[in-house]
Amino acid sequence: GLVSAKEMIDKALEGHYAIAQFNINNLEWTKAILLECEELKAPVILGVSEGAAKYMTGFKTVHAMVSAMVEALGITVPVALHLDHGTWEGAHAALEAGFSSIMFDGSHYDIEENIAKTKELVALCHSKGVSLEAEVGGIGGEEDGVISTGECADPKECAEVAALGVDFLACGIGNIHGKYPANWAGLQFDVLANIKDAIGPKMPMVLHGGSGIPDDQVKKAISLGVSKVNVNTELQLVFAAATRKYIEEGKDQQGKGYDPRKLLKPGFEAIKAGVKDRLECFGSIGKA
Ligand code: G3H
Ligand code: ZN
Repeated sequence: GLVSAKEMIDKALEGHYAIAQFNINNLEWTKAILLECEELKAPVILGVSEGAAKYMTGFKTVHAMVSAMVEALGITVPVALHLDHGTWEGAHAALEAGFSSIMFDGSHYDIEENIAKTKELVALCHSKGVSLEAEVGGIGGEEDGVISTGECADPKECAEVAALGVDFLACGIGNIHGKYPANWAGLQFDVLANIKDAIGPKMPMVLHGGSGIPDDQVKKAISLGVSKVNVNTELQLVFAAATRKYIEEGKDQQGKGYDPRKLLKPGFEAIKAGVKDRLECFGSIGKA
């Protein structure tokens, strides 16, 4: 079955590695990620944005697909089904559908409102054994049409939100969603260290926008207390590239290459390879 993400992330914090959150879009994504993580004995978080849930016809469909697939594939590694960048309404709907972990992204509210809403959701989630991630300070870039400027989080505000009893905390440290621009300044490690001091050694941090950050920066962030790294764009890029190659080579026109089970296979394999590549960087292989 699906589990809360708390235990796997607490262990990661203790063991100085990070758990991967991979966002899912459809059946192929889900299957590729689950199979690869099982093969590598890595605990995993499947992230679902509200846009992706809508695309997959709702939280209940997603929950049914994921839980049935975990069972049918005989997955033994811990799997959390996590709402990514949830709204207040989305958080309630995902909980209702049986999600085992929730991110409430109140970063666009003023801090008082973010705190008030996060506090209520901590109580609700914990009453159901569900983990809760909160966010302070916008993460830059665009995700599902939401554009944020990516200010670094204020360590004092991070401490206030951490004190609400959230299970892990996403804070802007110069990271952005999507592709990084060529002139990107890199992660702000001084801000990261200040936040860590403010929230204390026991509060795991989450690094969003995990696609395209150089590995040495990701590893340094993990060594400074990041215990969960979110990856979405990276798998989309490798899936698209592999699918494009297959079509450009005309393979869809040979034999029954147009059969979706064949057409989507190279992208499926590319997702598996991309998952392995990230798990190696995050250090979570063999930790299940
Ligand atoms: O919440 C999801 C992640 O932050 C994904 O970011 O698309 O840049 O990998 P990414
Ligand atoms: Zn994110």
